Order: sequence, then C-alpha cells, then structure tokens
Amino acid sequence: MSESARPVETVVEVDAAARGTAISPDLFGVFFEDLNHAADGGLYAELVQNRSFEYTPAHRPEWHALTAWELLERDGAAGSVSVAVEAPPHPANPHYAVLRTTTASTAGRGAGLRNEGFDGVAVREGERYDVSLFARLADGTADRLMTQIESRDGSRVYGRAELGPVHGSWERHSAVITCEVTDPEARFTVVAGGIGTVHLDLVSLFPQATFRDRPGGLRADLAQAIADLKPKFVRFPGGCLAHGVGLGNMYRWPETVGPLQTRRQQRNLWGYHQSMGLGYYEYFQFCEDIGAKPLPVVPAGVCCQNTEPTGQVGIPEEEMPDYIDEVLALVQWANGPADSPWGALRAAAGHPEPFGLEYLGVGNEDTITDTFRDRFSRIHDALREHHPEITVVGTVGPSPTGEDWEKGWAFARERSVPVVDEHSYKSPRWFLESTGRFDAMDRGGPHLYIGEYAARDNDMRSAVAEATYMIAMERNGDVVRLASYAPLLAKRGHTQWLPDLIYFDNTNVWPTLNYHVQRMHSVHSGDTALPVTVVGAPRARPVPEPARHSVHIGTSHDTRAEFTDARVGPLGADAAPAPDFADWDAELGHWKPGGDGRIRQTAHGTDARLVLTAAVDGPSYAFSVRARKNGGGQGFTIGFARTSPGNWYQWSVGDWLNRGMRLQRVDDGVLHDLNDSVDGPVETGRWYDLRVEVDGRRIRCYRDGELIHDLEDDPAPPEVFAVSAVRDSSAGDVIVKIANSTSEPVTVHLRLTGTEVVTGFERTALAAPPHATSMFGTAPASPVEDRLPGPVCDIPPHSFTVLRTRPDEAQE
Ligand code: AHR
Repeated sequence: MSESARPVETVVEVDAAARGTAISPDLFGVFFEDLNHAADGGLYAELVQNRSFEYTPAHRPEWHALTAWELLERDGAAGSVSVAVEAPPHPANPHYAVLRTTTASTAGRGAGLRNEGFDGVAVREGERYDVSLFARLADGTADRLMTQIESRDGSRVYGRAELGPVHGSWERHSAVITCEVTDPEARFTVVAGGIGTVHLDLVSLFPQATFRDRPGGLRADLAQAIADLKPKFVRFPGGCLAHGVGLGNMYRWPETVGPLQTRRQQRNLWGYHQSMGLGYYEYFQFCEDIGAKPLPVVPAGVCCQNTEPTGQVGIPEEEMPDYIDEVLALVQWANGPADSPWGALRAAAGHPEPFGLEYLGVGNEDTITDTFRDRFSRIHDALREHHPEITVVGTVGPSPTGEDWEKGWAFARERSVPVVDEHSYKSPRWFLESTGRFDAMDRGGPHLYIGEYAARDNDMRSAVAEATYMIAMERNGDVVRLASYAPLLAKRGHTQWLPDLIYFDNTNVWPTLNYHVQRMHSVHSGDTALPVTVVGAPRARPVPEPARHSVHIGTSHDTRAEFTDARVGPLGADAAPAPDFADWDAELGHWKPGGDGRIRQTAHGTDARLVLTAAVDGPSYAFSVRARKNGGGQGFTIGFARTSPGNWYQWSVGDWLNRGMRLQRVDDGVLHDLNDSVDGPVETGRWYDLRVEVDGRRIRCYRDGELIHDLEDDPAPPEVFAVSAVRDSSAGDVIVKIANSTSEPVTVHLRLTGTEVVTGFERTALAAPPHATSMFGTAPASPVEDRLPGPVCDIPPHSFTVLRTRPDEAQE
C-alpha cells in the first residue's frame, strides 16, 4: 500500500446509452479433463475402484487386475482369487475375477473380495447405495453373494444386501444398501454364499444421491460446484487426453457410450486408468442438467506429438474415411432424431430428445504439420458439407505465441476455420502484460477460444490477474468467443498439475480464489460491451532493479554436465574470471568442484542451478562459461539478469528434449519463451563456449562464437487497474467490473451517462493479500455482497469488484 494509504481518486465513466459491442453469449465456460483424478474417484460417483478388473501395469507399473481388491477369508473360510479372460460379459471389458471357495466358514459362508475404494469408500448415514455386479457360477453351490459396506477394520457392518441366485451364465444382479453410518473411509465387500467358484465383473457401489439423482451419474457436491459457475459451455474430454499418446490411446467417443460393460477402458495418459463410466452420454447429460452447451473435442486424426518414440502420427490413410464417419456420427448421435441410426443409440440410453450440439472441437495443441493439416482439413470439410450448422473449433498449438501458434492461425485463416483454441499457462505478470492482445485482433478472421488458461499459483495475485484478462476478453467479446480456465478439478493426494480451479477429496470441495473470480465474471456476464473511460487510475510502478545482477549456470531435467572458465564483466572489455565455483551457491542439483577449475553437476531427474549472487553491475555486461554435457536428455541453462530468486532470464541450450536453443524469462518462477527454438541439440562429451551479452533490454547469445539469438525484451506495461462495463439486456442491468492488482486503495466515482438517475449498486467484492493462497482448505476470502447506496465505491488493493445496477429502475 502507498505510504500515506490515501486512496487514489479515480473516475469511471460508462456510456450506458451506447449501442456498444455485442459479446459472445457463450463467453465463459469450463473445461473438464480427467487429470488429477478428476473423473474416476472424482466427479464420476462410482465408489468401487477397479470395478472391472481392467487395471494393468501399462496404466501404472505397480498396478494389476486385482489392484484395490483383497481376498477375504473370514471365520475359517478359505479360498483364492485369480483373474480370467475366457468368455467375459463383453469383449471390450475382458478381465473378470474368479473367486473360489474351498472351505466354508463356521457360518457356512465362502471366501470374498474387499475393495478399498478410491482412498476409502465414503458413505453417509441414511443414504441409499445401488450395488450391482455381473456374476456367473462356474461350479459348486456358491450361488448367493452377500455384499456389504463395512468399517475399514471390518469390525462394523454399515449395511448389506444379498444378491442371487447366480446361474451358469453371466447375469447382472443388483440390490440397494441403506447405510447406517457416515464414514469417509469405509470398505465394500462381496462374499460368496458357500463352496464353489463364482466369476465376478463390473462390481459397482453407487450412491443414489448423485447430481440431479441421475443413476450412475456424478458426485453431487462436485457437480454442484461446477454448476454454480453457471458455465455457458463445458469442453471435454481433454486436453491431451483427447488426442492421446499413440493412435491406440485416442479418446474415441463411440467407445464411451452404451452399456458400461461395452465401453473400452484404457490407460489415462496422465498415468492412471479411465473406466469410461464418465463417457460422452454422461458429459452431454451433465451439460443439459446445468444449462451449458456441450463442446466435445475429437482428435484431429493425429495423436499427441509428445508420444514416445513415434511423435505425432496420423490415422492411416485407409482408416480415415471410417474416422471421418465416426466424427459425423457424433453429430447424429447428439442431434439426430431418435429413429436415426446413431440417434437411436442415444434414445436407447434414455435421451430421445436431441442434445443440441452446436460446437465441435477438432484437435488439441497439435503440432501444425502436413499430416495434421491433411487430417484436419478432411474432417473439417466433411463437417462443413454434412453439418454446416456445427461450429468447428480448431487448434493453434500449446501456447499463445511461437511457431505452432503462428502456423495454426495462418492455417485456420486459409481454411476459414470459424474458431481456434489457444492455451496460456503463465505468470500473473504475463496476464497483466497481455491484456491488449485481443484489442488488436483481426475482426474478420477466426474467432478465439481461450480453451485453457491459468496464472500461477492459486493466490490473490493470480486471481486478480485472471480477472483482468477476463475483463479484456469481455471488452473484446465480439472476437473472443469462448474461454475456460484449466484444469478444473484436482484431488488431494493425486494432484499432478498446478494450479487448478477446484480442489477436493472424498468428502470436501474447496473452491479457490480463482474459482470465485470465474464465478463473479460468469454470473455477471452481459451481452453488450459498453464504452468506458477511466481517469486517474493507479498505474504500474516501475520496479526498482537491484544495481547488481546475479548469474547462474545450470542443467535441465536429467542432464549431468561440467563447467569451467566462467567470466563476467562489462561489455566491450575483457571479462575477468568469475570467483571460484566453490564460492557459488547451489540452488538446485548436486554440484561438486573438481579441483581442476571445473565443477560437475551430477544429480538426475531435476533442474540444477549454481548461482553467483550479485555477480556484476547491471544493466550492461557479458557472462561466459565453457560447458560439457556428460549425460542425460537435455542440456544447459545459462541464467542472467537475476534480480531475485524467482526472477531471471535464461538461455536454454538443449531445450525441450534437447531439440534446440531458446531464450526464456522466468517471472516469479514461471517460465516464458521469448523466441522460437533455434535448431541445435547438445552433443554429449563436447565442450561448448557459451556467452551472453546483456545491454539493457537487448540480449545476445553466442555459441562457439556464433551469434544464436539477438532480441530485445520489452514487455508491455501491465494493465494493473482494469475496468469493463457491460449491459445485461435481459435484466436491464449495467454491470461494471473492476480488477485492482495494485497495492493502492482506490476510490472510484462512477458516472453512468445517457441514463436516468442510478439509485445504487449491488456490489460483489473479493479482496485478499496478494500472496494469500487457496488450495486444499477454505479460501482466505470469499466474495462479499452488499448494496452501495451511491456512485462512490471503495476498491481495496488486490481485489476484484462487480457493481450491478438497473438504471431504469428510477423511471418505473
Ligand atoms: O490442462 C492440462 C493440459 O495442458 C491439457 O491436457 C493440455 O491441453 C495442456 O497442455
């Protein structure tokens, strides 16, 4: 906060009578991907883990078909459990459990199976649970099955139900258990009725109290948290999950609809398993239940370019016609009449009415190669010909700049793709610096879908930066058509990606500060952007840079290397040798001076940095070092212009799978690429002379005397006090949104011109210290709602405020 802490006086004038600019009605939505265990053990309410015995070491090395299950031999019963594949209930779901009882218990019961659930089976007193399974009697008299919910130690029974009689061919059996106890860590058991062998598959325990009481549906509290965002659309199933690693791992929609036993389960590329219980039918149903448009994403006929060892591969020529038919069939499945071939499947699943599909994503972050262009064009052409009513959403690579982004946009323009999907995982500073990018967009080109974006790190700074970016989207809502934060869900103990929007465990749901921002924007969206003038707003303060810069040497990922002959000094003079490496600070990695003027980095599997603190006077100097790689898959990082532990520039030599070299900037620990990669992998065993020259904002990098990069990094001034105004015509309201990312309190004097007297505003405000973090646990602040009697509003530092008024009220 400024020293005097006197608020900055700011005037916000809104032309409330202006025609304004139409805003996309679908602007703010959500993106769901099964990452961080978002689906099985998360949004999909099934309580039994590995219910179909389809886990394999290919999904996770320590997994097998009986993971999460154990054999029960209680009260003298004895037996065994194994897994078989002969004549399963359905070939798509080949494995099943063989439960053999050789000795019955004193009570005449057989052996059984016990499931640990997903970190336990969370049950609640008085709730009813649907239990179901497929069973076949192979031999003996074990034709009854006792199922029960019990305590973790097995000492207490919370509810039970008997199933059977089991016959010699597969049949589905079901019952209902009413649970008598609340326990977040219960267990579920199935015990055979006597001696003999019984086959079991698709063993399920499902709460009846799902979201909107849909049988086999979604966990109510998590689904409600998503519904409360009032998303205009839901994008699914990915993300990388959509195009998969390798052609066999692609998410193929027809395999995810129909009876559960017919759905092809498979590896989740995020390192676990997809039961496909949450499939296209469930996604579409959820969209309908929350009034959001479905935005499915199908692979663009290529798998992920990061597939090892093949890279991007296209669906073979001869299979493309069938694949295109599959994509066209999705439209018929979603929208066709109940008596059409695919519409009939939807109707058979319980939804005779069309789902009303409008958008279809084709591809995700794919490298824009000739193979991609070919496959995408054929799918796009077919959709245009057969379903011109569908708006296709293309893809422009994994980041908002760079080669794929440029090629992706050029390709989309050439092919007249109506909307393209762009992704930004960046620092708060990047978002504040990038708010002008939509203002400059070509109004005649493809519309933009910001399909994935998030600012690090679930703190208030990131939340306000996102609010600011969303304000920029809103004022450009004529070309920014859709936007969704990512990732949406993350389970405690299984979080693979940070930050996320909603954290949860088996019984809790924790919305973040970022969630509150999304909700405030979405609930208070409008149809028309109005002109706004802001006078006297706080500005970005120039951050005083320390007079001396630090430099570092480093290695990336699993690389081992040695360095020698480090020099730093003023530009144009002979650089002096830097202090001995023994006096540098090891920030990461394992650094060992050799006594021969060299230092070796020997750690595996981590980035490593050795820092020479306050090495040189800024802003103009040279830093050079000799480096040799001794092993590993990437290369060196040469850091300079370090102004604090989380902020520096770096030259990555042997960047991203050792493909090339590029310049990067690290803001508060978040890496941004400053240029495209220049070819040039690092050879193991070869010495390289690496030299960086810093001349104010200009940076030059030389490898073995050859100039590799020469660029000026001149970031745009951040938009630190952002204001938008929109009209919500259906309600007759004017809505003003204000994001203040400064430490200044501001007093805003609001003027709405062209309207009758405004009598007051409904205010929703979210404010918290910039580094207050929200993850697992209650957020440090939540939106506060009140009524503002007049046009003067105090805006706290680090805050997001929404003001809503109905100017015509006074006239009524
Ligand atoms: O949101 C997580 C991942 O980030 C998505 O799967 C992918 O599209 C992006 O790289």
